Amino acid sequence: MAVAQPQQDTPRTKFAYDEWMEGRGVPVHRGFFVRDVRSVELSWWEERKCNAAFIQLMGQEGVSEARVTEIPPGQTLPPYRLAVDEVVYVVSGRGVTSVWNDAAPTPKSFEWQDRSMFLVPNNAYRQFSNMQGEKPVRLLHYSYLPLAMSIVPDPDFFLNNPYQARVSEFATQQDFFSEAKVVNGGGGLRWTDSGDPNRAFWYGNFFPDMSAWDKLDANTHRGAGGATVTIQFAGSDMSCHMSVFPPLTYKKAHRHGPGRVIIIPGGEGYSVMWEEGREKIIVPWQEAALFVPPNRWFHQHFNLGGKAARYLALHPPMQFHGYAEKVEDRLRDQIEYSAEDPAVRQLFEEELGKRGLKSAMPEQAYKDPNYEWEPKKF
Ligand SMILES: [Fe+2]
Repeated sequence: MAVAQPQQDTPRTKFAYDEWMEGRGVPVHRGFFVRDVRSVELSWWEERKCNAAFIQLMGQEGVSEARVTEIPPGQTLPPYRLAVDEVVYVVSGRGVTSVWNDAAPTPKSFEWQDRSMFLVPNNAYRQFSNMQGEKPVRLLHYSYLPLAMSIVPDPDFFLNNPYQARVSEFATQQDFFSEAKVVNGGGGLRWTDSGDPNRAFWYGNFFPDMSAWDKLDANTHRGAGGATVTIQFAGSDMSCHMSVFPPLTYKKAHRHGPGRVIIIPGGEGYSVMWEEGREKIIVPWQEAALFVPPNRWFHQHFNLGGKAARYLALHPPMQFHGYAEKVEDRLRDQIEYSAEDPAVRQLFEEELGKRGLKSAMPEQAYKDPNYEWEPKKF
């Protein structure tokens, strides 16, 4: 299938964060997607004493940071501090993180493996170690640093600030990095705007393996019998969700705000992204592919594999949510199967045909806009 990365008209995209990022001397990967974060080009970052790269795809500019670091076999990187919360997704490898701050100087340490995800709280020191002797570790770091630097355009304020953090939640809770717990309908927490007061989300700072996570809620409105987990990081405004959908099916197209970084924990397929009325971009994916739907672009996910596919979407601040997840926005921001361009179905069936496979999309789903999908278990 053709993979195009055309130039698009963009508004101003140079921000304080971009100057800092471009001055680090490591690659900055741009465009619409990264085919495989496990093999994306890195180079030496002297300040952090490791190989690294930035990923800044269209739709991230000025909102969210994505950064890749590598830890050589058996090594420990020097600790660093950052004034904003940081989500870390383990692209590959096995290791340990130690976190401490001035109020709690005894490090809290926890182990992780392929596809673990955790949050390191703002202002804390963090140190990453590779526990394997033969393989490097690759970590994907995600934060709102670009947005923060647009408010205070001084990198030292975020990277070299002697501010003494007060005793934070992580300092007082022994189990801060233990497994997450479920909270129904907001649970009185700050982030409750899921659009559904009964919807559960998972609250925590450590998720051991996103490819094995099976505590999912049916997500009936986006089609394909998919299921979702919504995650709120403890003590933080940061959040994410992961969707899982069955083999040989595809989801409905939808659109929302910028800054969402999507990484694939498992599966094989492609996504199509387009600005209304403009050329479509095809994003092929498998485990460790990464892409970002640009601001207000429609996007649609297709599973070409023989097993369920998963995508993990790291959310921008909810102020950038774009509102397209609410019931009243669906007519404007979601395309039902019955209303989609017939070429969507045609491409999907062609791609399956090349693999000797057939679509599992029920014929009725294309005829009835109110077609009810059977919720699937994953
Ligand atoms: Fe989306």
